[in-house]
Amino acid sequence: MSLRIDMQSHPTLHDLDRAHIWHPLTQHQIFTEGSTPLIIVGGHGSTVISQDGRAFLDAAAGLWCVNVGYGRQELAEAGSKQLYELAYYPLIQSHPRAIELSTRLAGYLPDTPHIYFSNSGSEANEVAFKAVRQYWKQKGKPSKIKILSRFRGYHGTTLGALAATGQPERRRDYEPLPPGFLQVSQPYCYRCPFQLSYPSCHLQCAEDFARRIEIEDPDTVAAIIIEPVTAGGGVIVPPVDYLQRVEGIAHEYNVKLIVDEVVTGFGRLGSMFAHTPYGIRPDIITMAKGLASGYMPISATAFSQDIFDTFLGEMDSGRHLRHVNTFGGHPVAAAVALANLEVIESEHLCERSQQAGQQLLHQLQDALANVPAVGDIRGMGLLVGVELVTDRQTKKPVSNQVMRAITQYALQRGIILGKASDVEHQRNNVLMFAPPLVITDDEITQLVTIIREAIITVMENPRI
Ligand SMILES: Cc1ncc(COP(=O)(O)O)c(C=O)c1O
Repeated sequence: MSLRIDMQSHPTLHDLDRAHIWHPLTQHQIFTEGSTPLIIVGGHGSTVISQDGRAFLDAAAGLWCVNVGYGRQELAEAGSKQLYELAYYPLIQSHPRAIELSTRLAGYLPDTPHIYFSNSGSEANEVAFKAVRQYWKQKGKPSKIKILSRFRGYHGTTLGALAATGQPERRRDYEPLPPGFLQVSQPYCYRCPFQLSYPSCHLQCAEDFARRIEIEDPDTVAAIIIEPVTAGGGVIVPPVDYLQRVEGIAHEYNVKLIVDEVVTGFGRLGSMFAHTPYGIRPDIITMAKGLASGYMPISATAFSQDIFDTFLGEMDSGRHLRHVNTFGGHPVAAAVALANLEVIESEHLCERSQQAGQQLLHQLQDALANVPAVGDIRGMGLLVGVELVTDRQTKKPVSNQVMRAITQYALQRGIILGKASDVEHQRNNVLMFAPPLVITDDEITQLVTIIREAIITVMENPRI
């Protein structure tokens, strides 16, 4: 099989793509069998346009990041203006847009007012892990190094962030991963790992952190990292008192709490940050996707005063954070992020996410109530998951092939839909909805109608 192409023969963009782009999470073999990736050339609101002029409702908001929707003039103008003014400067020194953005983020997060900028969610988590380990060394507790996370949780693609990720299929083939990362149970009520029910379970899933810390010895544990709602692992929404209990356990054992808001921040779950309504005060908060709605790559890690202060010392004490990236806090990305936050606030997109999310959830519940393959529907704000099973009693997950057929069917009907992938062997059976926060009521209705049709058609004709 050769993918070499003859440049004299006027190759199409599809030819060049097949020849040169190595796509993430993609089996390229299918491209040689006639299938081609979708080439997107434009977009507006929740709609993207492909090179051949087709319109798609993007129910995945890119990779769950285009919170303010496509085609925002104000974000483009903010980026363009900044390119003329100051295209680049590193944060070894400083520049106005990073100062303004850090001030704004600290305004949302007064308990974590020290902001370290990076380019992606993975990097934001790496900064958290490195800083928290250094923190404990500087506090005279050098053995506190372990990071606890949860099965099915996702924290990124770089080796440290992958080590914190509890998704065996994603980790396989890249091991050995850095040591010192351990996983505990998810608050996965539909498939409770303890075969219990809420609330009589007394949150055994949260207690699993306490058990693990005891087993490991609290003097070896640096931090817990959790997503407020597990996103890529299958839209797992915890019971309402779960986050508070995890915070309580972190305090009891003198362990720092890192909340990964990479997906959940900036309105996705109906508030600027998803942990805030629960009244918890994490020591570290990481954020990325919705920070600039994907218009530019930018991420941030917010630290508490306590952690930041530990890094103060004499000039050559070595107590400074020895982490650097060339592009973190890039002026153009920061300018775009500021414009993006302005849109989220002025258009009340957090409230819109809450209201549209309820509508999406209820419409899915109504439309899918009698579809036997639908095992569970859950979500918060505009992050909703539909878990598919072959039998509601046994809860046996549908196959990866069925999941692919459903998303392919939806694509042919003009809907781009996300699904769990590479989480656990044959347990990638959750369809995921995370549209732009500007999705309209009519688009939600269209989405639900087509998804119902896709599930029913594929389940009736599994060979589609
Ligand atoms: C919860 C969570 N954390 C971290 C990441 C990593 O972000 P990035 O892909 O920008 O590195 C992701 C990406 O999807 C995520 O879902």
